[in-house]
Formats: sequence, structure tokens, C-alpha cells
Amino acid sequence: LTNIAVFASGSGSNFDAIAQEATAGRLPCQVKVLVCDRENAPVKEKAEALGIPVFSFRPRDYEQKADFEAEIVQVLKEAEVDLIALAGYMRLVGPTLLKAYEGRIMNIHPSLLPAFPGKHAVEQAIEANVKVTGVTVHLVDEGMDTGPIIEQEVVRIQATDDAQSLQKKIQQIEHRLYPAVIQQFVEGEI
Ligand code: GAR
Repeated sequence: LTNIAVFASGSGSNFDAIAQEATAGRLPCQVKVLVCDRENAPVKEKAEALGIPVFSFRPRDYEQKADFEAEIVQVLKEAEVDLIALAGYMRLVGPTLLKAYEGRIMNIHPSLLPAFPGKHAVEQAIEANVKVTGVTVHLVDEGMDTGPIIEQEVVRIQATDDAQSLQKKIQQIEHRLYPAVIQQFVEGEI
């Protein structure tokens, strides 16, 4: 089994999808730790329910990003983590983490990158009146939602869609696509 860490800041539906697949033995991984940068994020309860350890931190308690990332790296090393999956971790990864896990940090993003990077990809697709958007899984580099693309899936936007309905369609795809890409990665197919 490959030891993975999931990083999340919010509701954690992708964390849950990955952790459930791993717990059920359908993904050759063990989720060793959830890393969370927000005190009240619902994802923490999901981890607790599954008995997955949580490393929770408050960025404002640290002078700089390198300080909390050094602590994260220590936690990950202790847990013998080999792969990081960002799942709604709303923060740029800095050089400390990137160096420690070079080529082994993935992210999922709710658009067809390079379109609509950032925190509001779903709303921006609606506002832009595009007919298709989608989901991207990519390797993380120092940029915001940049880095080599591993996989993408298209979602059509209907005239009746709003941000909420589109988000729902996108997340359904995410919950299937992310565990599948992680599986390919750990099996050496990527
Ligand atoms: C996901 O849709 C993910 O693609 C997006 O945040 C959501 C987190 O949902 N990520 C980004 O926008 C990254 N720029 P979740 O907490 O329910 O998994």
C-alpha cells in the first residue's frame, strides 16, 4: 500500500471519496493523515469519523509559510507518506513542501485548466458562458493551478445550469476521477 496524505481546507467531499475507496480496499493506498489549514473545516469531522489522523494548523500562528510547511514535512515523514493529494487545499504550496515531495504532489481543480485557475473556477465558467468546462488533475508546481496535467474530463454546461448545479456535476466527476488517477499514479502508469 502507498501511504498518502490528503490536504484540504473545506467540506472534504474529495477527501471522503479517496478515503472511502482506500478503506474499502479498492485503492492500493492508506490515507495516513489529513492536513488541514482551517479550524472549522467540516473535512476534519469526516477524517475523525474514519479514524484518520488529522494534522491541523493555523497559518497565522507561524511567521512564514516555510515554518508551517517544515512542520508538515516532519509529520509526513513520520507517517512515511509517499504521495500528497491536494483536495480543495486553498493555499499555494511553497518551496519547502515542493522540494520534499517533488513530483509527488497532485491537485484536483474544477475546470479544464489552463482555463479558470484560482478559487472561483465554477462561477467563472458560468459567467463566461462557456458551453464546456470540466475537471483537471495535475501535478503541483509553484504556480496557482499550474503544473503538468495528468487527466481531464469534460462537463457540458446546460442553459439551465447555475454555479450550484454545475458544481454538483463537477464534484460527481471529481469523486470518481481523483481516486482513479491516484490509483494509476501509485501503480506507476503515470
Ligand atoms: C473541489 O471541487 C476542488 O476541485 C476545488 O475545491 C473543491 C473542494 O471540495 N479546488 C479548487 O478550486 C482548487 N483551486 P471538497 O472540499 O468537497 O473536496
